[in-house]
Amino acid sequence: MAKRDFLTLLDCSPEELKSIVRRGTELRGMAEQPQTLAGRSAVLVFQLNSTRTRVAFEVGIRELGGHAVVLSPKDSQIGRGEPVEDTARVLSEMVDAVIIRTASQALLEQFAAAATIPVINAMSERYHPCQLLADVQTFEELRGPIEGRTVAFVGDGYNMCHSYINAARQWGFHLKIATPQGYGPDPEIFRSTNNAELVATAEEAVAGADLVVTDVWSSMGHEAEERKRLAAFADFQVSETLLDKAADGVLFMHCLPAHRGQEISPTLLDDPRACVFHEAGNRLHSQKALLEFLLT
Ligand code: CP
Repeated sequence: MAKRDFLTLLDCSPEELKSIVRRGTELRGMAEQPQTLAGRSAVLVFQLNSTRTRVAFEVGIRELGGHAVVLSPKDSQIGRGEPVEDTARVLSEMVDAVIIRTASQALLEQFAAAATIPVINAMSERYHPCQLLADVQTFEELRGPIEGRTVAFVGDGYNMCHSYINAARQWGFHLKIATPQGYGPDPEIFRSTNNAELVATAEEAVAGADLVVTDVWSSMGHEAEERKRLAAFADFQVSETLLDKAADGVLFMHCLPAHRGQEISPTLLDDPRACVFHEAGNRLHSQKALLEFLLT
């Protein structure tokens, strides 16, 4: 059987994504984890910082009986200019999957093209597909199927926004996106679905929304623009008052880390409508489900 990669949500069919999310919930509820990855190993390469994604993969692989090897670009040959294709072919001889966080979707694609084992995108500058598995799992655990619901994305039209656009297409929900001018999503990604709509204000985005999502205003790589972005995004903060304009039963999610006083009001994470820690916990279960799907 041909190997499968997970570089974007579009690498899976809608049915496959639904079954991964269902399995994530099933794994969450199991006191004893099945040893479905016994004898299997995966390499984790993180070229950018991570807490949630890395811990979820390392712990998840161990819980399912597998073995994770973390390769730091600092102390491996990856940071010393070995061709990506060579690393991909070598690791394909030794382990069962490679999980990569990088600022280059192109590098991920290059790696995946040379590897004969599954390659997983643990976040790039274009997409964060693993986060969306956890977000959809969390919504469905708390509110039922996300299909047909309305989701508001408020903030930077960057990698999380792009993955929400893909998710709207795959899970069949309506996505309203509000970003400052000049910070919208990539037009090509936006045009790839009829399920996403650009609106002018955060208030318009959240009106009638069942789920409100935001992300940091300055993602990794944008730190030098922070001052300019603080001014540009000032009208796009998600607060308790903004959530009051959404549908009854609205949930609020943030992939974290969060900056209180910037993209969210200082106390928003303590609001009962916020489910960000449940969401963060589901990174563990949804990523285990993804590994099972790709490896077993
Ligand atoms: N949300 C997320 O990907 O968190 P980390 O950057 O800590 O992995």
